[in-house]
Amino acid sequence: MSYAEEISRLRETIREHDRKYYILAKPKISDLEYDRLMQKLKELEAGHPELVTAESPTQRIGDKLAGDFETVLHRVPMLSIENTYSTGELLEFANRIQKNLPSEKIEWVVEPKIDGVAVSMIYENGLLVQGVTRGDGLKGELITHNVRTIRDVPLKLSGNHFPSLLEVRGEIYMGNSDFSRLNEHKTAAGATAYANTRNLVAGSIKQKDPKICAARPLRFFAHSVGSADGFTAENELDFLRELQDYGIPVVPLVHQSESMAEAIRYCEEVIENLYELDFEVDGLVLKVNRFDQREKLGSTAKSPRWVVAYKFEKYEAVTRLREIRVQVGKTGTITPVGELEPVQIAGTTVSRVSLHNAEEIQRKDIRVGDSVLVEKAGKIIPHVVRVECHLREKELPVYQFPTKCPECSTPLVQDGGGVYIRCVNPDCPAQLKERLRFFASRNAMDINGLGEKQIEKLVDSKAVTSFADLYHLTARQIERALYPAGERSAGTLLNDAEEEWAVEKEEEGTAGKKEKKYKSPDNLAAAIEESKHRGLARLLCAVSIRHVGAETAEILARHFKNIKALQTATPEELAGLNMIGEVVAKSIIDFFSGEFGRSLIAELEKAGVSMTLAPKDEPASEQIFAGKTVVVTGKLSRFKRDEIERLIKQYGGHATSSVSKKTDFLIAGEDAGSKRQKAAELGVKILTEEEFLSLLPETRENRLVREPG
Ligand code: IVH
Repeated sequence: MSYAEEISRLRETIREHDRKYYILAKPKISDLEYDRLMQKLKELEAGHPELVTAESPTQRIGDKLAGDFETVLHRVPMLSIENTYSTGELLEFANRIQKNLPSEKIEWVVEPKIDGVAVSMIYENGLLVQGVTRGDGLKGELITHNVRTIRDVPLKLSGNHFPSLLEVRGEIYMGNSDFSRLNEHKTAAGATAYANTRNLVAGSIKQKDPKICAARPLRFFAHSVGSADGFTAENELDFLRELQDYGIPVVPLVHQSESMAEAIRYCEEVIENLYELDFEVDGLVLKVNRFDQREKLGSTAKSPRWVVAYKFEKYEAVTRLREIRVQVGKTGTITPVGELEPVQIAGTTVSRVSLHNAEEIQRKDIRVGDSVLVEKAGKIIPHVVRVECHLREKELPVYQFPTKCPECSTPLVQDGGGVYIRCVNPDCPAQLKERLRFFASRNAMDINGLGEKQIEKLVDSKAVTSFADLYHLTARQIERALYPAGERSAGTLLNDAEEEWAVEKEEEGTAGKKEKKYKSPDNLAAAIEESKHRGLARLLCAVSIRHVGAETAEILARHFKNIKALQTATPEELAGLNMIGEVVAKSIIDFFSGEFGRSLIAELEKAGVSMTLAPKDEPASEQIFAGKTVVVTGKLSRFKRDEIERLIKQYGGHATSSVSKKTDFLIAGEDAGSKRQKAAELGVKILTEEEFLSLLPETRENRLVREPG
C-alpha cells in the first residue's frame, strides 16, 4: 500500500469514528485508540507534507458539530490562538513579529482570556439576526434563539452610525457569584449541583427550548470582529470603544503597551489580582493593536499570526474554611486570612489563603464553615474563586469583620477608599511586634538573633514597648524576658525559641554534650548595640514611615545626610527629589511633624542611634552607573547580594529585580536562568562579576574584593 493510500484510509477511518462519536453519540473505540489513529496520521503527514490536504482531520480546528441545529458557514473562519506558557516564549513571539514587520513600531494590547464559550453574533442594519457557535471553526450551529435571551447582548445596536453588517465575536460566560447562587437554589430544590461554569454555559446555549437558556444568568464579552461592512476602527482599542458605543459589552481590563516587556509586566499585575475578578480567566491574550499590521502578518491555517495566548495552568480544589483570622500589619492594616482544611493543589498542601480585605469577603459572601473553591493559577499564591454555597449544610452566620483590633481592642477605622481597615492605636502590641520584626530585619537595622519569637516574648513581658526600649535592655533583662525563671536549669524541656538558642550554642563548641546550654543573651545585647551604627539610610527604612521603603530611604539619606536636615525639609523640597512624589512627600512630612514620629526619633537619638549618613552609603565620587538600571542574578562568588547592590547604588545606579527593555546591565553569576535568557533576548548588556568589578575605580575596598585574602 502506498503512503497516499494509507493516509487516505486512515482519514476515512477517523471520519467514521468522528461520525459515530459526535453525530450518533455511539463511539466504537476508546479515546486512547482514537488518539493513536490521529497520531499515526499526523506522523505520516509530517513525513509527506505534499499529501496534506485542507480536509484532513488533522487540519480541523476546534470542537465538532453535534448535528442538532442548523449549521451555517462562518463568513470568516473562527480560528484559534497559539498558546505560550512562559514569558520567554512571549518574547520570542514578539521577536518573530518584529522580524516580519521590520522597522515598524508595534503596540501590544493585553486582554484577559475569558474562559467561556465562543460565539459569533451577526447584526444587519443594527439588528441581531444570528448567533452562531464556533463549531469546527468553519461551520457553526445556529443558536440565535438562545443568544437572544442573554441580557448583555443587545437585540438592537445603539445610535445610528453602526456598520450595515457587523459580526461581533466573543465569549458567553457565567459569573462566579451567579454560578454559586444558581447551584444553591438548585440543591435547595433537591437537584444535583452543576460541576463548573464552562460546561453549564456550553450546555445552556445548546438547548432547544430558549426558556431554559433564559433562566440561566449568562453574560457576554465581545473581543473580536468577524466580517463587517463600513467599519471604521483601525486598531483594537478603537474597535472595542466603537462596540461599546453600540451598546455591546467588551472584555474588561484591556491595556495598551508600548513593548512586549511592558505587556508582560501588565500580565503579571493582572495575574496577581485575579482574585478580584468575578469571571473565570484561563490566561491572557496579547494582540498587535493596529489592524493594518495584522493584515500584513496574516494567518496560518489554524491561527492568526498577530495574536498569542499567555496561558496558565489552573489547579483547583474545594475545601472547607475552618476559620477567618485577622492579622495586624506594621502600619495597622488588618488583613483577613482563611485557615483551610489542608488540601493538595498542584503538588503542594494549601492550608491558608489570603482573603485580602473586608470587601472581598463581603463580595464573595465567604462564611466560616463554607466550602470554598480555591484556585492556584500558575506559580501564583492561591485565592478563593467562590463559595460553593450549595454545600452549606446549615445556615451559616454572615461573617462580621471585627470592629475592634484583635490585639488591643481599639476600634478599627476604615481607610480613605474604604477597602482597608486599620488599627490606629500607635501603641498596639501587634503592630509593635510587626514593626520590631521589620526594624530588626536584614534590610533594616540587621539585628542578628532578634527574630519573631524573641520579639514576641520581649513585647509580651513588656520589656520592650518601643524601638528605643531595645537600646536600653541589659543582657540580664533579655534573659529574664526570654527564659522566665525556673526554665533555665539544665535538662529543662526547651520551647522552640530556646531550642534555637541552645542549638546555636552547641555549634559554638559544646556539641556532643547531652546537656544543652543557652546562648548568652549577651550576644543579643551586643547585636543590638552594634546596630546603632547602621546609619541614616537603614534607620529611615527601619522606622516604617508609610510609603518609605529601602530605596526611598537611601535617596533621602544621601540627599539630606542627617536627620535634622530631613526633619526641617519642606514638602516642595521633598517632592523635588527624583523618585519621590507628592504622596510620599506628604507621608514623610506627616511622620516628622506628628507626635509619634517626633518622639520616636528623639528617643532613638537619645539612646545613641546614629542619625547621619554612614560613610559606606556616601555616594562615590565617580558616578559610573549614573542613571543606569542594573539587575543582579545567579549565584555570586565575590559578593553577597546586598553588597553588590549597595555598590551599584553607591556608583549612581539603580538596582532592580526584573529584566526589561529599560535594564542597562545584567550582572550574571553562576546558574543565571531565565533572567539571563531574557536579557540576551532584549539585547541587555550582560556582565560577569569580574567585568563589573573591572568597571569600578581602584579603591582600597574594591581591591579587597578583587584580590580576596
Ligand atoms: S481574540 C483567534 N480575545 O479564546 C481570533 N479571543 O483559545 C482572535 N478568547 O477562539 C480571538 N478571550 O474564543 C480573543 N480576549 C480575547 C479572548 C479570546 C477568550 C477565546 C476565543 C478564541 C479562544 C482561543
